[in-house]
Amino acid sequence: MTYDRNHVVLSVRDLSVTYQAERGRVRAASHVSFDLHAGETLALIGESGCGKTTLNLALIRQLPKTARTSGDGVIYTYRDGRQADILKFSDREMRRYLWSECSMVFQGALNSLNPIIRVSDMVYDTAKAHGIGRDEAHKRALRLLEQVRLDPARVMRSYPHELSGGMRQRVLLAVSLLLRPQIVIMDEPTTAVDILTQRSILDVLKQLREELNFSVIFISHDLAVAAEIADTVATMYAGEIVEIGPVNEVFYRSRHAYTLSLLNAAPRLSAGAETLESIPGKPPDLIDPPSGCKFHERCAFAREVCSQTPPPLITYDDEHQASCYETERVLAQSEVTRKVAAP
Ligand SMILES: Nc1ncnc2c1ncn2[C@@H]1O[C@H](COP(=O)(O)OP(=O)(O)O)[C@@H](O)[C@H]1O
Ligand code: SF4
Ligand SMILES: [Mg+2]
Repeated sequence: MTYDRNHVVLSVRDLSVTYQAERGRVRAASHVSFDLHAGETLALIGESGCGKTTLNLALIRQLPKTARTSGDGVIYTYRDGRQADILKFSDREMRRYLWSECSMVFQGALNSLNPIIRVSDMVYDTAKAHGIGRDEAHKRALRLLEQVRLDPARVMRSYPHELSGGMRQRVLLAVSLLLRPQIVIMDEPTTAVDILTQRSILDVLKQLREELNFSVIFISHDLAVAAEIADTVATMYAGEIVEIGPVNEVFYRSRHAYTLSLLNAAPRLSAGAETLESIPGKPPDLIDPPSGCKFHERCAFAREVCSQTPPPLITYDDEHQASCYETERVLAQSEVTRKVAAP
């Protein structure tokens, strides 16, 4: 099923996050705005440290105590059409929201299963906290475990250490869907597993999405994975979304020089291209980020204005947005490069 652009599930409006660190204030996410639609999979891409995890933790209000969140709101639309601002939730409202409206499968999740309780008890506990009885939870879990292609009866009886990494990851995926949330947030869910396991998790995710029709925010450092799973791709740089649009637009008609660099540095996407170009320099210090376009010190397209004034986020062709002064030159090069790289 394709996603429904007329139905916004989550509207993130000018969201910023800072961390108070010893050296100063880290501006980890800056003025992030986007809409997540029903049934849409949004992939967040960008180098390590650009704020992907921070943004996701802010969306479920699970940031560490040193973090400060500000903005115009994170508006969630319930199935019945009611709307609420997650940033204004009480702790109790937040607990109710988690799992039943929005759930998450995290980076390093392989270790996040409690080692001393069986999968079945984890299922019952999670369900009970949301007012769902044991029988109903059991029934739902069996079905979900089957959908993630595990042996339901056996897995329910198991302790985490009795399952392989890939099986545990699929258990977490199943549990994340137990309360039928509209949104699942996945932070590098396939990072710690081998390529075959990654393959099977992606297949399972795609099938579940077809059957249950939830929206996904997906973080992956693997751009080929993002290309395969996403409807929409957002590129983050130094805490900002610098480009966002339909996956084919962002990957094949890139409009921000940073996205282009990122793709040119990705081995599996650049196969066949003459050269694999690594991005010069390193991501900026977020305590004292560069002026103007934060990418200007590393950008081959940069001109004077880039270091002086931040480029505005401009919308192209209706759904594609980018904040880059050289978008036309970037686009021209993107079209040439991807043509070479296409299999
Ligand atoms: N608890 C924290 N305290 C201070 N700085 C942090 C903390 N967590 C993350 N950061 C900083 O915030 C920035 C964004 O980090 P993160 O969201 O983890 O990026 P990503 O997930 O894209 O790798 C980085 O500069 C990182 O060092
Ligand atoms: S605005 Fe300028 S520095 Fe920034 S990505 Fe575009 S060309 Fe490069
Ligand atoms: Mg991260």
